[in-house]
Order: sequence, then C-alpha cells, then structure tokens
Amino acid sequence: MSNKISVDVVILGAGPGGYSAAIRCAYFNLKTLLVDKYSSIGGTCLHFGCIPSKTLLNVVKSIKEFNTFNKYDIFSGNLKVNIKQLLFWKHNLINKLSNNLLNIMKINNINIIYGVGKFIDSNNIIIEDKHRNETLVNFKYAIIATGSIPNNLLNTKFDNRYIWDSATALDIPCIPNKLLIIGGGVIGLELANIYNILGSTVDIIEVSDQIILSLDKDIVDKLMYQMENNTLSFKLNTKVSNVEIKNSKVMVQIDNKELNNTNYYDSVIVAVGRKPNIDQLQLEKIGIETDSNNYIKVNNQMQTNINHIYAIGDVIGAPMLAHKSIHNGYIAAEVIAGKKHFFDQKVIPLVIYTNPELCWVGCTIKQAKHLNLNFKVVDFNWANLGKAVVTNNHTGFTRLIFNKDNNCLIGGGVFGVNSSEIIGELSLAIEMSCEAEDIALTSHAHPTLYESIQLAAEIYTTSLL
Ligand code: FAD
Ligand code: NAI
Repeated sequence: MSNKISVDVVILGAGPGGYSAAIRCAYFNLKTLLVDKYSSIGGTCLHFGCIPSKTLLNVVKSIKEFNTFNKYDIFSGNLKVNIKQLLFWKHNLINKLSNNLLNIMKINNINIIYGVGKFIDSNNIIIEDKHRNETLVNFKYAIIATGSIPNNLLNTKFDNRYIWDSATALDIPCIPNKLLIIGGGVIGLELANIYNILGSTVDIIEVSDQIILSLDKDIVDKLMYQMENNTLSFKLNTKVSNVEIKNSKVMVQIDNKELNNTNYYDSVIVAVGRKPNIDQLQLEKIGIETDSNNYIKVNNQMQTNINHIYAIGDVIGAPMLAHKSIHNGYIAAEVIAGKKHFFDQKVIPLVIYTNPELCWVGCTIKQAKHLNLNFKVVDFNWANLGKAVVTNNHTGFTRLIFNKDNNCLIGGGVFGVNSSEIIGELSLAIEMSCEAEDIALTSHAHPTLYESIQLAAEIYTTSLL
C-alpha cells in the first residue's frame, strides 16, 4: 500500500451530489476528500448528461427557429450544421464548467483523488487509480454519491456504431438516416429531438400506453403531437423482442398488438431507465442495505443503516435529477456537521428540455384522484398570451391544480419554449403553501410567459367570487 491518509469525510463520486456535499463539508471545516473514477469532476451531469444534452438542445432550438423564419421568408438561404464544430463547442463548454468546479474545490481546500473507491470495512476505503496505485483512506464519515448507469436491453452490447447509450449518443458518432430510440422517457425524448432536427428519421418505441409515465396523459400527448412530424413517429404499447446486427444495419423485431414486424435501422439508442452504480463499492463487505432494485436505503437525513455512512443522489433512487442530488448532498454534509436538518422538500420539479419544453412540479391530476383530494384544475392556453405569440410560442399552455379545501396550489405544469425558466414560480408557491390569491394578486410583468401563471390563478380566484 503506497499511500495512507485519514480524513473526516470521504465522498465517493464527484457528480452534483458529491461535489455539493464536499463544498458544504469544507464550509464546516471538515477535512474532506472527493474521489471519482473518471479523470475529471462533475459526474454524469457535467460530462454525459444535463450539460452536453442541454448544449445540443439549445443549438437545435436555434435551427428550429431558423427553419420557422425561413418558412416565412424572413430568413433565407440554406442552413448547414457543422457537427465537428458543434462537438468542439460542447467540449469547450464542459471544460469551462469543469475548470470552474476544480477552482471551487481548490479554494475550499478539498482534496481530490481520481480512482475507483471500494469499502474494505466501515471505516476504510481503498482507492485504485488507473496506474493501479492504491491509497488507503481512513474516514470518520463517508458519503456514497456514485450515481447511476444506463439499463441495457436484451443483452445488447453498447458500441459507438450501432447500439448507443445516452453518453455515446451525446457524442454524435454520426447522424443516422434511420434511428430507433427504445424508451419514451426523458432521455429518449430529448435525444429524439436533437437527432430529428439534425436530420435523422426517428422512431420512438415505448412499451407503455404513454410517454413520461409519471405525468398526466393529456399533457404529455401535447408534447407528443408537437414532436411528431413526417420524420418522427411514436409507437406506443410496443416492445422490442430482438435486436441483431445484420448487413451493417440493426435488425429490430418490434411487437405490438397490431403488428409484429422486422425493421432495419442505422443506429439504435437504448434509453430504458437507469440503475444504481454500486457494483465496484463492495457494499456487501460492510452490510449496507439496498432495496429490491439495488438502490441504497437511507433515512431523511441521508444516513444508511450504518449511521456514519451516508448516500445521496441517483444511487438512492428516483427522482434521478441533478437538483435532487445537490440538495441531498447539502443535507448529508449538514447532518455530519451536527445540524438537525432533514431532506423534506415538498416538491421537486421535472423539466423535459425538448423544443418546446414540458415542465411539471407537484401533484398531477392522476395523483390528486388517487389521493381522493378535493381539487380544481385550471388550464390557460397561450394562444392569447402576448409574449407567447410574439415568440411564436402560441401552442403553449399553463396548468395549475388547487386544493379546493384551502385554495392552495398543489401542482402545476407549463408547456412551451423556455418554460423551464418559469416553472420555478410554481415550485416556490407550492413550497410556501401559496393560495391562489397570493399568485393572482402578485404583479407579473407584461408581456412575459410567466404572467400565464397569474392569469391561470385569476381564473381560479374569479370562480370563487
Ligand atoms: P453522478 O452525476 O452520476 O456522479 C457519480 C460519479 O460517481 C461519477 O462521476 C462516477 O464516475 C463516480 N463513481 C461511480 N462509482 C465510483 C467509485 N466506485 N469510485 C469513485 N467514483 C465513482 N438531471 C437534471 O436534473 N436535469 C437534466 O437536464 C438532466 N439531463 C440528463 C441527461 C442525460 C442524458 C442523463 C443520462 C442524465 C440527466 N440528468 C439530468 C440526470 C443527472 O445527470 C443525474 O441525476 C445526476 O448526475 C446525478 O448526480 P449524482 O451526483 O447522484 O451522480
Ligand atoms: P425513464 O425512466 O425516464 O424512461 C424510460 C422509458 O422507457 C419509460 O417510459 C419506460 O416505460 C420505457 N421502457 C422501459 N423498458 C422498455 C422497453 N423494453 N421497450 C420500450 N420502452 C421501454 O428513463 P430514461 O429516459 O432512461 O432516463 C433516466 C433518468 O435520467 C430519468 O428518469 C431522469 O431522472 C434522468 N434524466 C433527466 C432529464 C431531465 O431532467 N431533463 C434528462 C434526461 C434524464
């Protein structure tokens, strides 16, 4: 063993959960070590998830806007996308953010070791770097923040030619003429949007009867109809029963009630959910409890069944979102520092960053029905909303759900270009237990998209007069 160190807190995984926990630990003067097996910090979010996907989605949004103005002869000419430059642009943005993070770690005196960490007992881990050098770390507290990895399907092997996971897809190995996306979840939809606008004909196969199962069908149908066109189609209630590479194509056997046929694609993206990334941790050596899907079990202070070992972020299960991981990280660090803090956020927003975006926060109609709540739904279409019309966003829509017993907002969603920038008002309103009147009487600037929230709340308050 070449190296031995002792720390107050070791954090395994330097994604948004891990680095946020590290910064908060450092704030409390805890000697903190951050470990990641990748050679840079930022995790899935920065390198293979949120940031690369949003960079590409932002560019395809501009292409879509150009095409619209082109149709009306406001712009003219042929737009040509330089994929090599696009990837260079993405790479530079990631590097910029990665360097910023490194600086923050430096300023906070947080040590970083790049290597795979595994438990050898409940107070020691070993880190093995890529040269097989080992470091033994003795810790008072550990935080497991190792995130998640993609599920595979039918034992297909991911490669960067035919069958891609999301990380490969975000590196755009090529623009396939015919692309199949298996899974109508968030990843499937965002990647479908990117590749379709870049020129691929895209089929999306979803095993259930709707995309984005957690949301209400009518609202996700709106997104589906907006995305569908001559070169993008959804196949719901459909399963893939076999995938094979044949004559430089991917042969896919597709089954649904109406048809059972074989299709050929140039590439296939598998986006059928993710699983906890725990295989290398040797959790069995220390007896950390996991649930039936292998997610690490924690209490609302992020403690595992071993009190001084915490787990945060994707590795503890849904929702697998960067902003949840970050908040989990803060709580774990604060509890380690002796604070009586709990992870008790009422709601966590979900944003699907397609063009247009679909956002939701809090209770859906199906949940409200399931809970037998006394509720009222108010829908406000953007067809008459000034800012929506001038930004060619008139198909947008705002929905608020109120509890009729106390007039408090309990859920809501926004669908439209840039709606991710206005969903925050609904999260805050729910977290603060705002009543409809609080929202309706708050002055909202005009013309904006967020005044749709005030207008929807006014519809509700007027109904009480
Ligand atoms: P991760 O970010 O996964 O970080 C875990 C880290 O642990 C990794 O760097 C890994 O290398 C390291 N690690 C694993 N095992 C070990 C080990 N044994 N030793 C040392 N290090 C280890 N969420 C959003 O909120 N908004 C989005 O727009 C969004 N877009 C996404 C797009 C895609 C394509 C994907 C795949 C995900 C997206 N997500 C998004 C989800 C988001 O990326 C995750 O929820 C978030 O990254 C989870 O953070 P984390 O810190 O829990 O884990
Ligand atoms: P997901 O769970 O969101 O969706 C997977 C979809 O695949 C589901 O609709 C499921 O019914 C379907 N499916 C499962 N097996 C299938 C099969 N055999 N054939 C056809 N369809 C099948 O998972 P996804 O899209 O992989 O994303 C994982 C997670 O990453 C998300 O749940 C989210 O937490 C996070 N993420 C968040 C983003 C955001 O916040 N904008 C963007 C991308 C990912």
